[in-house]
Amino acid sequence: MNATVIGSQLGDEGKGGIVDVFAGDADIVVRYQGGANAGHTVAHDGETYELRLLPSGVVQGAVGVLGNGCVVDLSVLFAELDALRERGISPDVRIDARAHVVLPYHRALDSIEETARGETGDTVGTTGNGIGPAYEDKAGRRGVRAGDLVASGPHDGQLDALVSRKRRLVEAITDGDAASIAVDGSDVTSSAADSTAPFDADAIAETLREWGERLDAENMVVDTGAFLTASHHDGKSIVFEGAQGTHIDVDHGTYPFVTSSNPTLGGAITGTGVDPSIVAGGHVIGVVKSYLSRVGNGPMPTELAERRADEVRELVGAFGTVTGRPRRIGWLDLPMLRHATRVNGFTGLAITHVDTLAEFDGLRLCTAYELDGERVETIPATRSAWERCEPIYESMATWAPQDWDAVAQTGYGAIPDAARTYLETVAEALDVPLVAVGVGPGREATVVLANPLDEARSLDRGSDTRPIVPRDESAT
Ligand code: IMP
Repeated sequence: MNATVIGSQLGDEGKGGIVDVFAGDADIVVRYQGGANAGHTVAHDGETYELRLLPSGVVQGAVGVLGNGCVVDLSVLFAELDALRERGISPDVRIDARAHVVLPYHRALDSIEETARGETGDTVGTTGNGIGPAYEDKAGRRGVRAGDLVASGPHDGQLDALVSRKRRLVEAITDGDAASIAVDGSDVTSSAADSTAPFDADAIAETLREWGERLDAENMVVDTGAFLTASHHDGKSIVFEGAQGTHIDVDHGTYPFVTSSNPTLGGAITGTGVDPSIVAGGHVIGVVKSYLSRVGNGPMPTELAERRADEVRELVGAFGTVTGRPRRIGWLDLPMLRHATRVNGFTGLAITHVDTLAEFDGLRLCTAYELDGERVETIPATRSAWERCEPIYESMATWAPQDWDAVAQTGYGAIPDAARTYLETVAEALDVPLVAVGVGPGREATVVLANPLDEARSLDRGSDTRPIVPRDESAT
């Protein structure tokens, strides 16, 4: 069986940990969109791995693939590979020939665009990794793809023309000298590409040549669609990993406060080129964090006031993995989850961070919104309407802290009653069964109720006989 793992909220739901749990049974883990903007924390055998580009499953020995829907900063990819190798893990990583490459000027343009938006108070709060500008160039038919680097590469005239157009554009916008524009380091994580001057065509050409040589030497470039389809027919199991959450999807999220790609299910098809029936015939696991957090700007109806958010941050240590920014915090929002369930067709839910809410005073669950005097069950399409939504809450009983490792070992029945009520309220509202519950950061701290890779699609939505919790587990 195959499974797609998708964030149901605004990113940072704990997808990396859930992929890691299932990756032990997967042969291949493929990322189908996004780039070094993602931050996945994988805890394994007492070690913690922070991954931005590599699919989380590589830590467990699955083949890791970056599909054609990704935009790849190769300096970050190579640095991650080297860091893992130093720690004794030698992952088998492939990158699609059609995947676009993030170039040094994309990061500079990201920073310039955010600064310009700031003048009208409209910054997105991007991670500063050049994601939007790289996808703009893809759609604008002027991108550079991984396959180009191992073939002839963009020829000098082509690169000169590209860089020159960017430089003139930037000079016009900034009234300045593009050569002196540095990538704003204040909110941007480090990248070896920082050392390449963003608008120097010769320096970029040299960087591209080095990247191409390494891709070639390590034989990393593949045709993902052909590779995955053949692997599927050979009986291999594949996990498709969405890099961001549903509500920062460029089509289905809180536009314009979104990333520039599709983490939702359709992205797994267009972002890999695999036979669509392979994605559609597998499970779709929605990862839900038991509260809400957001690192960028944009509407968030259940957001907690700053003082209360500080308390939660203190409790859960909520800071962005990539940017280190404090996360905004809110109550779990069912209207958002209903939207995510429809857009992705979830067949199972993995609810994470249940341990972090223990003993949390005054726990609330947003069950619907009031919008212009009407009760609405799911999110409206426009930002202005969403900003007018008033959450309707249900108070929930909290639970005491536990020896969560022991809980994880014993199984679902050891989870405190109040926490089970919380989990089952969510699963019932969405009519999707629970397949996993995260009660701590490590793989061992995940209670697995059903492994999608072991099962045929018995967890399908719409099945009348489907239990919210498999009977044998709930009895333990
Ligand atoms: P970008 O993807 O860097 O262009 O950022 C666009 C928006 O998506 C910003 O609000 C970011 O904070 C958000 N974002 C991008 N990647 C992630 C992620 O992996 N987790 C959470 N938020 C993200």
